[in-house]
Amino acid sequence: MWRFELLIPILTSVILGVEVSNTPFRDCGSVNASVEHVHVNPCHTSPCSLYKGNNASIIIEFRVHTPNIMPGNAIVMGVVSGMEIPFPLKEPNICKSIDQGCPLNSTEKIYAFKFETNISEDYPSLNFHVTWKLLNNLNATFLCVQVPLALTQKP
Ligand SMILES: *[C@@H]1O[C@H](CO)[C@@H](O)[C@H](O)[C@H]1NC(C)=O
Ligand SMILES: *[C@@H]1O[C@H](CO)[C@@H](O)[C@H](O)[C@H]1NC(C)=O
Ligand SMILES: *[C@@H]1O[C@H](CO)[C@@H](O)[C@H](O)[C@H]1NC(C)=O
Ligand SMILES: *[C@@H]1O[C@H](CO)[C@@H](O)[C@H](O)[C@H]1NC(C)=O
Ligand SMILES: *[C@@H]1O[C@H](CO)[C@@H](O)[C@H](O)[C@H]1NC(C)=O
Repeated sequence: MWRFELLIPILTSVILGVEVSNTPFRDCGSVNASVEHVHVNPCHTSPCSLYKGNNASIIIEFRVHTPNIMPGNAIVMGVVSGMEIPFPLKEPNICKSIDQGCPLNSTEKIYAFKFETNISEDYPSLNFHVTWKLLNNLNATFLCVQVPLALTQKP
């Protein structure tokens, strides 16, 4: 199921004058963790459009259900027409991208995984899905989230 949580972020955006909207996402097999919110920036359209030659960022907010997850690497894939295309990460170590750092030892906290990249001009303009998998130190996926996105030129 896609999650649409539009009203509160729209109100928040109006009040704060910034983009903090929640992006619809699909859980694709999280184990011992649950995704609370996903924020993509920029996100002026549905699905969110990322502008070629510009920065784009994603924040994945999640909880862990067991206090003993030892994170390993993150894997990102673009899914275009059912084909998975790996997107190599300069820094795959999950712990370096989590605000609170590691270990993920609290089932009470909401952890925030943040990633930013400059979108290459070389990509075609298209709609696709991006899949983020967070692996533990034994390479088992503990969090998987899929987000619909578009690549376009900045209007
Ligand atoms: C992204 O990369 C393009 C091409 O290299 C560059 O012109 C642009 O300034 C970069 N944008 C940011 C926000 O770093
Ligand atoms: C989690 O780990 C941090 C850093 O090692 C530590 O300061 C904190 O007390 C730990 N929390 C729990 C609930 O074990
Ligand atoms: C754009 O993203 C890069 C990471 O790819 C980052 O180093 C840089 O600070 C960002 N620039 C802006 C203006 O946010
Ligand atoms: C996890 O995967 C990486 C990359 O494929 C590999 O180098 C590493 O040895 C694997 N670790 C385990 C514990 O299987
Ligand atoms: C999930 O938690 C159980 C119980 O703590 C553990 O045995 C299992 O390895 C964990 N799986 C992952 C992918 O973290």
